[in-house]
Amino acid sequence: MANIQLRHIKLWSIGKAKNWDLLNYEAQKLERDFYVASGFYRSLPIDNIALVAQPLRRLMEAANKKDHSLYVRAFDELTAGCNSCHEAGQVGYIRIQIPKSSPFSNQNFER
Ligand code: HEC
Repeated sequence: MANIQLRHIKLWSIGKAKNWDLLNYEAQKLERDFYVASGFYRSLPIDNIALVAQPLRRLMEAANKKDHSLYVRAFDELTAGCNSCHEAGQVGYIRIQIPKSSPFSNQNFER
């Protein structure tokens, strides 16, 4: 989940920079991480992967269409999906929010 948390911040930075190729790449990585995580965590309510699968698809769609407002909506839905699953998994106290800044000063997210 720490990996997933980092990717969530990256996706936000990338979307702000409108770097559509990188957004597609990173959304696919996050999608894969969820499937890997579902194999590791017994506690992971697997049906709830759907809560993030749909927003992730929409992020990829936004990247393909280079549509910033679709990206913003999909990112909000993704974040809500994180929290819905935490509620369902009895860890509702782990609350995810839209990032306020990024720790990735060593990666350039601009196009
Ligand atoms: C399919 C369900 C599910 C989804 C979707 C989900 N999580 Fe989680 N998450 C969990 C569960 C369950 C835990 C508690 C795992 C444990 O403690 O063993 C957790 C724990 C966490 C933690 C605490 C990990 C730590 O070591 O401090 C973070 C941070 C986190 N999730 C971030 C996210 C983010 C960001 C998203 C969305 C991009 C997300 N999660 C989506 C189920 C989910």
